[in-house]
Amino acid sequence: MPEQYKSLQGFRDILPEDQPYWRYVEKAAAEVAQLYGYRRIETPLLEETSLFRRTSGEGTDIVDKEMYSFDDRADKEGHRLNLSLRPEGTAGVVRAYLEHGMFKLPQPVKLYYLGEAMFRRDKPQAGRYREHHQFGCEALGEEDPAVDAEMIGLLYQVYTTLGLKDIQVYINSIGDGNCRPQYIEILKDYYRPLLDSCCDDCQVRFHKNPLRLLDCKEPQDQAKIANAPKISDHLCEPCREHFAAVQTFLKAYEVPFSVDPLIVRGLDYYTRTVFEFTSTRDKLALNGGGRYDGLAEILGGQHTPGIGFGAGIERIIQELKRQGITPPEELRPRAFVAYFDRTPEGKNAAVQLVAELRLAGIKTEMSYGDRSPKAQMKRANGSGADYAVLLKSEELAEGLVTVKDLQAAGTDIDSKQVQVKRDELIAYLQQ
Ligand code: HAM
Repeated sequence: MPEQYKSLQGFRDILPEDQPYWRYVEKAAAEVAQLYGYRRIETPLLEETSLFRRTSGEGTDIVDKEMYSFDDRADKEGHRLNLSLRPEGTAGVVRAYLEHGMFKLPQPVKLYYLGEAMFRRDKPQAGRYREHHQFGCEALGEEDPAVDAEMIGLLYQVYTTLGLKDIQVYINSIGDGNCRPQYIEILKDYYRPLLDSCCDDCQVRFHKNPLRLLDCKEPQDQAKIANAPKISDHLCEPCREHFAAVQTFLKAYEVPFSVDPLIVRGLDYYTRTVFEFTSTRDKLALNGGGRYDGLAEILGGQHTPGIGFGAGIERIIQELKRQGITPPEELRPRAFVAYFDRTPEGKNAAVQLVAELRLAGIKTEMSYGDRSPKAQMKRANGSGADYAVLLKSEELAEGLVTVKDLQAAGTDIDSKQVQVKRDELIAYLQQ
């Protein structure tokens, strides 16, 4: 027996029964993004590894441990590129913005991506997959705090449109190149004498990515985090004003938010406003985002402020299910054609009719494999169709078919069943 293949650990099939959830989320996301003036972009799944290394940053989990990278074949000159499946969407969008000269357009350029697959070799666990999909927005070329508020407002409106309740919005400012380095020194001064009692990861974070000390989940480090100096007390004046304006404008979008000085985010490119939404505290983040005013420069572009978010579609769907929100059902078939004459002519008449109805845009099913009339009627009932169309050779000879209303209540056979002229069937089903 050949070995039975299974999908890879952390990778999932999205089966037909789950598709209505995906379409429901995608529809709400696209509608709200467009309402706010965002236009769709798709970027390649594969990029040069250095694009992600330079933007997300060395010392981040994504770059150090989680990327799927490989050497490409050498080109004619013998050059070989190292490529990676994208772990996140922002780097590719900023690359595209620079590559296509979008800085020449009126700013900000507002873009969204939807359903894009991201790959991280994370430890698979609930809500954490090695392939996940994001809805994301990026606004490039504007540092106005009104854009920050708009970004958070947009995302919140997606959740309310979906009918989700109890969404917690946490925002913070992590300063900029002016004030953050000073804060990081203060943070390191605080941690230095405590380092021996910190977890192994924090020992590394202290050197590589000190801000992430505040993101540690180990119980032994929680008291240290609670007493650590807060970045909000060390913002420079422009950052403080920017963050105050974000909060004022956010009220216009009726977003109930809290400032959480411990939101620092896991990627290096963030500056100033950062945010995360959860359904209940301590649950996995539904989304994360923030400003990245220095990112375009890292990629060789002009100074280009930017802000965006990525929301995990799997996590949104998990939350919809948890809150008992069901998406609209898929369209039921309008007709199910059953043929009682199982000769080649009878079968041909059924196939002809099914094709004709479908070409007229009527969702139609039939059962295959020349089953008995009884078995076909069982299928018809199980299909959820509105009507069964019964083809019998003696009726067809007179240009008639029988239409049975499968959804009608009661047992009165006559009220459920009518004879319809074969050439008036389309009009009858379109009523
Ligand atoms: P991120 O926080 O790394 O940010 O990911 C965004 C969201 O993607 C998370 O909040 C979560 O919903 C989902 N997500 C991440 N990893 C996984 C996983 N392993 N399994 C399931 N879902 C996951 C970014 O990716 C940034 N690019 C967001 C951004 C855009 N910032 C500015 N612009």
